[in-house]
Amino acid sequence: MAVDLLLGLQWGDEGKGKIVDVLTSKYNIIARFQGGPNAGHTLVFNGTKHVLHTIPSGIFHKKAINLVGNGVVIDPVIFKKELDKLSLHKVDYQKSLVISRKAHLILPTHRLLDAASEASKGKAKIGSTLKGIGPTYMDKTGRNGIRVGDLELDSWKEKYRALANKHESMVSFYDVDLEYDLNELEVEFFEAINVLKSLTFIDSEDYLYQAQRAGKSILAEGAQGSLLDVDFGTYPFVTSSNTTAAGACTGLGIAPNVIGKVYGIFKAYTTRVGSGPFPTELFDKDGETMGRVGNEFGATTGRSRRCGWLDLVALKYACQVNGVTELMMMKADVLSGFKSLKICTAYKHKGEIIYHFPFNVEVHNVSPIYTDFEGWDEDLTKMSNESTLPKSLNAYINFIEKELQIPIKLVSVGPDRKQTIFR
Ligand code: IMP
Repeated sequence: MAVDLLLGLQWGDEGKGKIVDVLTSKYNIIARFQGGPNAGHTLVFNGTKHVLHTIPSGIFHKKAINLVGNGVVIDPVIFKKELDKLSLHKVDYQKSLVISRKAHLILPTHRLLDAASEASKGKAKIGSTLKGIGPTYMDKTGRNGIRVGDLELDSWKEKYRALANKHESMVSFYDVDLEYDLNELEVEFFEAINVLKSLTFIDSEDYLYQAQRAGKSILAEGAQGSLLDVDFGTYPFVTSSNTTAAGACTGLGIAPNVIGKVYGIFKAYTTRVGSGPFPTELFDKDGETMGRVGNEFGATTGRSRRCGWLDLVALKYACQVNGVTELMMMKADVLSGFKSLKICTAYKHKGEIIYHFPFNVEVHNVSPIYTDFEGWDEDLTKMSNESTLPKSLNAYINFIEKELQIPIKLVSVGPDRKQTIFR
Protein backbone atom coordinates (compact mmCIF):
# COMPACT_ATOMS: atom_id res chain seq x y z
CA MET A 1 0.00 0.00 0.00
CA ALA A 2 1.17 3.53 -0.73
CA VAL A 3 2.41 5.93 1.92
CA ASP A 4 0.46 9.21 1.95
CA LEU A 5 2.09 12.48 2.99
CA LEU A 6 0.62 15.42 4.81
CA LEU A 7 2.51 18.70 4.63
CA GLY A 8 2.13 22.38 5.46
CA LEU A 9 2.45 24.62 2.40
CA GLN A 10 3.11 27.99 4.05
CA TRP A 11 5.25 29.08 7.03
CA GLY A 12 3.84 26.49 9.41
CA ASP A 13 0.80 26.64 11.69
CA GLU A 14 -1.52 25.66 8.84
CA GLY A 15 -3.50 23.24 11.01
CA LYS A 16 -1.76 19.96 10.20
CA GLY A 17 -2.49 18.50 13.65
CA LYS A 18 -6.23 18.84 13.19
CA ILE A 19 -6.17 17.19 9.76
CA VAL A 20 -3.97 14.27 10.86
CA ASP A 21 -6.40 13.73 13.72
CA VAL A 22 -9.36 13.87 11.29
CA LEU A 23 -7.68 11.44 8.86
CA THR A 24 -6.22 9.00 11.38
CA SER A 25 -9.19 6.65 11.37
CA LYS A 26 -8.22 5.82 7.75
CA TYR A 27 -4.62 4.89 8.63
CA ASN A 28 -2.86 2.13 10.59
CA ILE A 29 0.34 4.10 11.19
CA ILE A 30 0.99 7.83 11.63
CA ALA A 31 4.69 8.69 11.26
CA ARG A 32 6.29 12.09 12.05
CA PHE A 33 9.28 12.61 9.78
CA GLN A 34 11.10 15.83 10.74
CA GLY A 35 11.31 18.77 13.12
CA GLY A 36 10.96 18.49 16.84
CA PRO A 37 9.41 20.40 19.71
CA ASN A 38 9.55 23.63 17.70
CA ALA A 39 6.24 22.34 16.30
CA GLY A 40 2.93 22.79 18.06
CA HIS A 41 0.16 20.66 16.56
CA THR A 42 -3.21 21.61 17.98
CA LEU A 43 -6.13 19.16 18.15
CA VAL A 44 -9.58 20.01 19.47
CA PHE A 45 -12.28 17.46 20.24
CA ASN A 46 -14.95 16.93 22.90
CA GLY A 47 -14.44 20.53 24.00
CA THR A 48 -10.76 20.03 24.90
CA LYS A 49 -7.69 21.48 23.21
CA HIS A 50 -4.54 19.31 23.01
CA VAL A 51 -1.15 20.56 21.81
CA LEU A 52 1.43 18.02 20.62
CA HIS A 53 5.04 18.95 19.92
CA THR A 54 6.93 15.77 19.05
CA ILE A 55 4.34 13.03 19.29
CA PRO A 56 2.38 12.31 16.09
CA SER A 57 -1.15 13.69 15.92
CA GLY A 58 -2.77 10.25 15.63
CA ILE A 59 -2.08 9.46 19.29
CA PHE A 60 -5.66 10.00 20.48
CA HIS A 61 -7.04 7.24 18.26
CA LYS A 62 -6.92 3.84 19.93
CA LYS A 63 -6.03 1.75 16.90
CA ALA A 64 -3.24 3.69 15.18
CA ILE A 65 0.46 3.16 15.83
CA ASN A 66 2.32 6.46 16.11
CA LEU A 67 5.93 6.52 15.02
CA VAL A 68 8.53 9.20 15.74
CA GLY A 69 10.79 8.86 12.71
CA ASN A 70 14.57 9.09 12.32
CA GLY A 71 14.28 12.60 10.88
CA VAL A 72 12.78 13.97 14.09
CA VAL A 73 14.86 15.53 16.87
CA ILE A 74 13.61 14.69 20.37
CA ASP A 75 14.00 16.73 23.52
CA PRO A 76 13.45 14.09 26.25
CA VAL A 77 12.33 16.76 28.74
CA ILE A 78 9.58 18.10 26.48
CA PHE A 79 8.72 14.57 25.35
CA LYS A 80 8.19 13.49 28.96
CA LYS A 81 5.87 16.45 29.54
CA GLU A 82 3.85 15.42 26.48
CA LEU A 83 3.62 11.87 27.81
CA ASP A 84 2.47 13.12 31.22
CA LYS A 85 -0.36 15.03 29.53
CA LEU A 86 -1.35 11.95 27.53
CA SER A 87 -1.52 9.93 30.77
CA LEU A 88 -4.05 12.44 32.12
CA HIS A 89 -6.23 11.57 29.13
CA LYS A 90 -5.67 7.84 29.64
CA VAL A 91 -3.83 7.36 26.35
CA ASP A 92 -2.01 4.02 26.40
CA TYR A 93 1.12 5.32 24.71
CA GLN A 94 3.23 2.33 25.77
CA LYS A 95 1.18 0.41 23.24
CA SER A 96 0.64 2.97 20.52
CA LEU A 97 3.90 4.94 20.38
CA VAL A 98 7.22 3.75 18.92
CA ILE A 99 10.45 5.65 18.34
CA SER A 100 13.10 5.30 15.69
CA ARG A 101 16.53 4.35 17.04
CA LYS A 102 17.99 6.76 14.50
CA ALA A 103 16.17 9.86 15.79
CA HIS A 104 18.58 12.39 17.30
CA LEU A 105 18.40 13.73 20.85
CA ILE A 106 18.26 17.40 21.79
CA LEU A 107 20.58 17.90 24.77
CA PRO A 108 20.19 20.74 27.29
CA THR A 109 23.35 22.27 25.83
CA HIS A 110 21.80 22.33 22.34
CA ARG A 111 19.16 24.65 23.77
CA LEU A 112 21.89 26.82 25.31
CA LEU A 113 23.70 27.00 21.98
CA ASP A 114 20.46 28.01 20.24
CA ALA A 115 19.94 30.81 22.78
CA ALA A 116 23.56 32.02 22.52
CA SER A 117 23.52 31.94 18.72
CA GLU A 118 20.24 33.87 18.47
CA ALA A 119 21.29 36.44 21.08
CA SER A 120 24.56 37.04 19.22
CA LYS A 121 22.70 37.77 15.97
CA GLY A 122 20.95 40.87 17.33
CA LYS A 123 18.58 42.31 14.72
CA ALA A 124 19.43 39.53 12.25
CA LYS A 125 18.01 36.85 14.54
CA ILE A 126 15.96 34.05 12.94
CA GLY A 127 13.22 34.26 15.55
CA SER A 128 13.92 30.64 16.50
CA THR A 129 11.66 28.86 18.98
CA LEU A 130 14.92 28.29 20.95
CA LYS A 131 14.21 24.59 21.36
CA GLY A 132 17.72 23.60 20.26
CA ILE A 133 16.57 22.48 16.81
CA GLY A 134 19.33 24.13 14.74
CA PRO A 135 22.27 23.01 16.93
CA THR A 136 20.91 19.43 17.08
CA TYR A 137 20.61 19.14 13.29
CA MET A 138 24.09 20.71 13.04
CA ASP A 139 25.45 17.94 15.24
CA LYS A 140 23.57 15.40 13.14
CA THR A 141 25.09 16.57 9.85
CA GLY A 142 28.41 17.23 11.60
CA ARG A 143 28.33 13.55 12.68
CA ASN A 144 28.54 14.33 16.38
CA GLY A 145 24.94 13.70 17.45
CA ILE A 146 23.54 11.29 20.00
CA ARG A 147 20.73 9.06 18.78
CA VAL A 148 17.93 7.29 20.58
CA GLY A 149 19.59 3.93 19.81
CA ASP A 150 22.73 5.11 21.63
CA LEU A 151 20.74 5.02 24.87
CA GLU A 152 20.84 1.21 24.63
CA LEU A 153 24.65 1.28 24.80
CA ASP A 154 26.58 1.43 28.08
CA SER A 155 28.91 4.07 26.69
CA TRP A 156 26.27 6.67 25.92
CA LYS A 157 26.90 8.78 29.03
CA GLU A 158 30.56 9.19 28.12
CA LYS A 159 29.52 10.33 24.68
CA TYR A 160 27.03 12.68 26.28
CA ARG A 161 29.63 14.23 28.61
CA ALA A 162 32.13 14.80 25.82
CA LEU A 163 29.51 16.49 23.63
CA ALA A 164 28.04 18.58 26.47
CA ASN A 165 31.56 19.76 27.44
CA LYS A 166 32.24 20.74 23.85
CA HIS A 167 28.95 22.63 23.72
CA GLU A 168 29.79 24.50 26.93
CA SER A 169 33.03 25.76 25.45
CA MET A 170 31.15 26.75 22.29
CA VAL A 171 28.62 28.70 24.38
CA SER A 172 31.42 30.63 26.06
CA PHE A 173 32.75 31.52 22.61
CA TYR A 174 29.65 33.65 21.96
CA ASP A 175 29.92 37.16 23.34
CA VAL A 176 26.56 37.03 25.15
CA ASP A 177 25.38 36.85 28.75
CA LEU A 178 23.68 33.54 29.27
CA GLU A 179 22.78 32.48 32.76
CA TYR A 180 22.28 28.78 33.26
CA ASP A 181 22.85 25.93 35.68
CA LEU A 182 23.75 22.86 33.66
CA ASN A 183 23.60 20.58 36.72
CA GLU A 184 19.98 21.54 37.24
CA LEU A 185 19.17 21.07 33.56
CA GLU A 186 20.84 17.67 33.62
CA VAL A 187 18.75 16.43 36.56
CA GLU A 188 15.53 16.81 34.56
CA PHE A 189 17.25 15.60 31.39
CA PHE A 190 18.39 12.30 32.89
CA GLU A 191 15.03 11.77 34.57
CA ALA A 192 13.34 12.25 31.21
CA ILE A 193 15.82 9.92 29.52
CA ASN A 194 14.72 7.16 31.91
CA VAL A 195 11.10 7.71 30.88
CA LEU A 196 12.07 7.71 27.20
CA LYS A 197 13.91 4.41 27.73
CA SER A 198 10.69 2.81 28.95
CA LEU A 199 9.23 3.21 25.43
CA THR A 200 9.72 0.92 22.44
CA PHE A 201 12.67 1.78 20.20
CA ILE A 202 12.59 0.31 16.71
CA ASP A 203 14.51 0.11 13.44
CA SER A 204 11.81 2.22 11.91
CA GLU A 205 12.79 2.10 8.23
CA ASP A 206 12.47 -1.71 8.32
CA TYR A 207 9.27 -1.51 10.37
CA LEU A 208 7.71 0.79 7.77
CA TYR A 209 8.94 -1.33 4.87
CA GLN A 210 7.39 -4.47 6.35
CA ALA A 211 4.19 -2.64 7.28
CA GLN A 212 3.84 -1.18 3.82
CA ARG A 213 4.42 -4.60 2.19
CA ALA A 214 1.86 -6.14 4.52
CA GLY A 215 -0.73 -3.70 3.21
CA LYS A 216 -0.87 -1.36 6.20
CA SER A 217 -1.87 2.22 5.49
CA ILE A 218 0.69 4.83 6.52
CA LEU A 219 0.37 8.59 6.83
CA ALA A 220 3.58 10.61 7.07
CA GLU A 221 3.04 13.76 9.12
CA GLY A 222 5.15 16.82 8.42
CA ALA A 223 5.88 19.70 10.76
CA GLN A 224 6.45 23.42 10.08
CA GLY A 225 5.77 24.44 6.47
CA SER A 226 7.34 24.32 3.01
CA LEU A 227 8.48 27.95 3.18
CA LEU A 228 10.52 27.05 6.28
CA ASP A 229 12.33 24.22 4.44
CA VAL A 230 16.10 24.52 4.88
CA ASP A 231 16.63 24.25 1.10
CA PHE A 232 13.49 25.72 -0.46
CA GLY A 233 12.29 28.12 2.23
CA THR A 234 13.12 31.76 2.81
CA TYR A 235 16.70 31.00 3.89
CA PRO A 236 18.22 31.83 6.36
CA PHE A 237 14.87 32.49 8.03
CA VAL A 238 13.93 28.81 8.00
CA THR A 239 14.07 25.80 10.25
CA SER A 240 16.91 23.27 10.01
CA SER A 241 15.14 20.34 8.36
CA ASN A 242 13.52 19.46 5.04
CA THR A 243 9.87 20.13 5.67
CA THR A 244 8.94 19.26 2.07
CA ALA A 245 7.95 15.87 0.58
CA ALA A 246 11.55 14.72 0.09
CA GLY A 247 12.00 15.07 3.87
CA ALA A 248 9.49 12.25 4.35
CA CYS A 249 11.78 9.90 2.38
CA THR A 250 14.90 10.77 4.36
CA GLY A 251 13.05 11.23 7.64
CA LEU A 252 11.40 7.82 7.54
CA GLY A 253 13.45 5.78 5.08
CA ILE A 254 10.57 5.35 2.66
CA ALA A 255 11.28 5.13 -1.06
CA PRO A 256 9.89 7.86 -3.37
CA ASN A 257 8.05 5.31 -5.50
CA VAL A 258 5.82 4.20 -2.61
CA ILE A 259 4.39 7.67 -2.06
CA GLY A 260 0.70 7.92 -2.92
CA LYS A 261 -1.34 10.99 -2.07
CA VAL A 262 0.33 14.23 -1.03
CA TYR A 263 -2.06 16.30 1.07
CA GLY A 264 -1.11 19.98 1.07
CA ILE A 265 -2.53 22.03 3.95
CA PHE A 266 -2.85 25.80 3.71
CA LYS A 267 -4.70 28.57 5.49
CA ALA A 268 -7.21 30.71 3.56
CA TYR A 269 -4.83 33.59 4.36
CA THR A 270 -1.14 33.57 5.36
CA THR A 271 0.69 33.75 8.68
CA ARG A 272 4.29 33.69 9.76
CA VAL A 273 5.90 33.62 13.20
CA GLY A 274 9.48 34.77 13.74
CA SER A 275 11.59 36.88 11.39
CA GLY A 276 11.98 36.75 7.62
CA PRO A 277 10.35 37.92 4.39
CA PHE A 278 6.57 37.78 3.96
CA PRO A 279 5.47 39.60 0.77
CA THR A 280 1.72 39.76 1.52
CA GLU A 281 2.06 40.77 5.17
CA LEU A 282 -0.54 43.28 6.40
CA PHE A 283 0.20 46.02 8.90
CA ASP A 284 -3.34 47.42 8.93
CA LYS A 285 -6.70 46.64 10.50
CA ASP A 286 -7.28 43.66 8.19
CA GLY A 287 -4.11 41.96 9.45
CA GLU A 288 -5.04 42.78 13.01
CA THR A 289 -8.53 41.27 12.47
CA MET A 290 -7.07 38.04 11.03
CA GLY A 291 -4.77 37.72 14.04
CA ARG A 292 -7.55 38.37 16.55
CA VAL A 293 -10.30 36.29 14.96
CA GLY A 294 -7.89 33.52 13.95
CA ASN A 295 -6.32 33.47 17.43
CA GLU A 296 -2.95 33.68 15.72
CA PHE A 297 -0.58 33.02 18.60
CA GLY A 298 2.18 30.39 18.43
CA ALA A 299 1.15 27.06 20.01
CA THR A 300 4.76 26.54 21.16
CA THR A 301 5.99 30.01 22.04
CA GLY A 302 2.81 32.07 22.46
CA ARG A 303 4.26 34.74 20.14
CA SER A 304 1.73 36.60 18.00
CA ARG A 305 1.83 35.57 14.37
CA ARG A 306 2.22 38.03 11.49
CA CYS A 307 -0.81 37.90 9.17
CA GLY A 308 -1.46 38.70 5.51
CA TRP A 309 -3.40 37.84 2.35
CA LEU A 310 -3.16 34.49 0.64
CA ASP A 311 -0.05 34.33 -1.54
CA LEU A 312 -0.70 32.09 -4.55
CA VAL A 313 2.81 32.58 -5.95
CA ALA A 314 4.25 31.03 -2.81
CA LEU A 315 1.51 28.40 -2.64
CA LYS A 316 2.07 27.32 -6.24
CA TYR A 317 5.80 27.00 -5.52
CA ALA A 318 5.07 24.81 -2.48
CA CYS A 319 2.69 22.63 -4.53
CA GLN A 320 5.38 22.15 -7.17
CA VAL A 321 8.17 21.25 -4.76
CA ASN A 322 5.94 18.78 -2.91
CA GLY A 323 3.94 17.29 -5.79
CA VAL A 324 0.69 18.04 -3.95
CA THR A 325 -2.25 15.93 -5.17
CA GLU A 326 -5.01 17.24 -2.84
CA LEU A 327 -5.41 20.55 -1.08
CA MET A 328 -7.03 21.27 2.25
CA MET A 329 -7.98 24.84 3.08
CA MET A 330 -7.98 25.79 6.75
CA LYS A 331 -9.54 28.62 8.74
CA ALA A 332 -12.00 29.75 6.06
CA ASP A 333 -14.25 30.86 8.97
CA VAL A 334 -11.71 33.51 10.00
CA LEU A 335 -12.34 35.44 6.77
CA SER A 336 -16.09 35.85 7.42
CA GLY A 337 -17.00 39.52 7.77
CA PHE A 338 -14.35 40.99 5.46
CA LYS A 339 -16.08 43.23 2.85
CA SER A 340 -13.48 42.30 0.25
CA LEU A 341 -10.52 39.94 0.10
CA LYS A 342 -7.30 39.84 -1.87
CA ILE A 343 -5.21 37.01 -3.30
CA CYS A 344 -1.67 37.65 -4.53
CA THR A 345 -1.28 36.15 -8.01
CA ALA A 346 2.06 37.63 -9.14
CA TYR A 347 4.98 39.68 -7.87
CA LYS A 348 6.51 42.84 -9.22
CA HIS A 349 10.21 41.98 -9.14
CA LYS A 350 12.95 44.35 -10.37
CA GLY A 351 10.44 46.17 -12.59
CA GLU A 352 9.02 42.99 -14.12
CA ILE A 353 5.89 40.98 -13.35
CA ILE A 354 6.82 37.43 -12.36
CA TYR A 355 4.74 34.38 -11.46
CA HIS A 356 7.37 32.25 -9.71
CA PHE A 357 8.86 32.41 -6.22
CA PRO A 358 12.27 34.06 -6.75
CA PHE A 359 15.56 33.84 -4.80
CA ASN A 360 14.86 37.12 -2.99
CA VAL A 361 11.36 37.73 -1.65
CA GLU A 362 12.14 40.57 0.75
CA VAL A 363 9.77 43.57 0.54
CA HIS A 364 12.37 45.69 -1.23
CA ASN A 365 12.69 43.02 -3.95
CA VAL A 366 9.09 42.01 -4.53
CA SER A 367 5.72 43.67 -4.22
CA PRO A 368 2.54 41.60 -4.48
CA ILE A 369 0.02 42.03 -7.29
CA TYR A 370 -3.49 41.27 -6.10
CA THR A 371 -6.81 40.06 -7.46
CA ASP A 372 -9.84 41.28 -5.46
CA PHE A 373 -12.69 39.09 -4.25
CA GLU A 374 -16.03 39.79 -2.68
CA GLY A 375 -16.20 38.79 1.00
CA TRP A 376 -18.95 36.94 2.85
CA ASP A 377 -20.72 37.60 6.13
CA GLU A 378 -22.08 34.19 7.02
CA ASP A 379 -20.78 32.41 10.11
CA LEU A 380 -19.25 29.21 8.71
CA THR A 381 -18.45 27.55 12.02
CA LYS A 382 -21.69 25.59 12.23
CA MET A 383 -21.76 24.54 8.59
CA SER A 384 -21.10 20.92 7.75
CA ASN A 385 -22.06 20.66 4.11
CA GLU A 386 -20.48 22.04 0.97
CA SER A 387 -23.85 23.10 -0.39
CA THR A 388 -24.29 25.64 2.43
CA LEU A 389 -21.05 27.53 1.73
CA PRO A 390 -21.59 31.16 0.66
CA LYS A 391 -21.36 31.95 -3.04
CA SER A 392 -18.40 34.30 -2.65
CA LEU A 393 -16.46 31.68 -0.65
CA ASN A 394 -17.08 29.20 -3.46
CA ALA A 395 -15.75 31.78 -5.94
CA TYR A 396 -12.63 32.20 -3.73
CA ILE A 397 -12.12 28.41 -3.58
CA ASN A 398 -12.74 27.88 -7.30
CA PHE A 399 -10.21 30.56 -8.18
CA ILE A 400 -7.50 28.90 -6.07
CA GLU A 401 -8.24 25.47 -7.53
CA LYS A 402 -8.11 26.82 -11.07
CA GLU A 403 -4.84 28.65 -10.50
CA LEU A 404 -3.17 25.67 -8.82
CA GLN A 405 -4.85 22.97 -10.90
CA ILE A 406 -5.27 20.88 -7.74
CA PRO A 407 -8.62 20.09 -6.07
CA ILE A 408 -9.44 21.48 -2.63
CA LYS A 409 -10.92 18.40 -0.98
CA LEU A 410 -11.50 19.78 2.47
CA VAL A 411 -12.46 23.14 3.94
CA SER A 412 -11.98 23.64 7.66
CA VAL A 413 -14.41 26.01 9.37
CA GLY A 414 -13.25 25.84 12.99
CA PRO A 415 -10.71 24.14 15.25
CA ASP A 416 -12.89 21.18 16.25
CA ARG A 417 -12.63 17.82 14.48
CA LYS A 418 -16.29 18.19 13.56
CA GLN A 419 -15.91 21.60 11.92
CA THR A 420 -14.69 20.03 8.70
CA ILE A 421 -16.36 20.08 5.28
CA PHE A 422 -15.34 17.48 2.70
CA ARG A 423 -15.77 18.39 -0.97
P1 IMP B 1 13.55 26.90 14.87
O1 IMP B 1 13.19 25.77 13.97
O2 IMP B 1 12.92 26.78 16.23
O3 IMP B 1 15.01 27.18 14.95
O4 IMP B 1 12.89 28.22 14.24
C1 IMP B 1 13.27 28.70 12.95
C2 IMP B 1 12.14 29.49 12.32
O5 IMP B 1 11.07 28.60 12.04
C3 IMP B 1 11.55 30.57 13.24
O6 IMP B 1 11.08 31.64 12.41
C4 IMP B 1 10.36 29.89 13.88
O7 IMP B 1 9.36 30.80 14.28
C5 IMP B 1 9.89 29.01 12.72
N1 IMP B 1 9.21 27.81 13.18
C6 IMP B 1 9.77 26.70 13.70
N2 IMP B 1 8.84 25.79 13.98
C7 IMP B 1 7.67 26.32 13.61
C8 IMP B 1 6.31 25.84 13.62
O8 IMP B 1 6.02 24.70 14.01
N3 IMP B 1 5.37 26.70 13.16
C9 IMP B 1 5.68 27.93 12.68
N4 IMP B 1 6.91 28.41 12.64
C10 IMP B 1 7.90 27.61 13.10
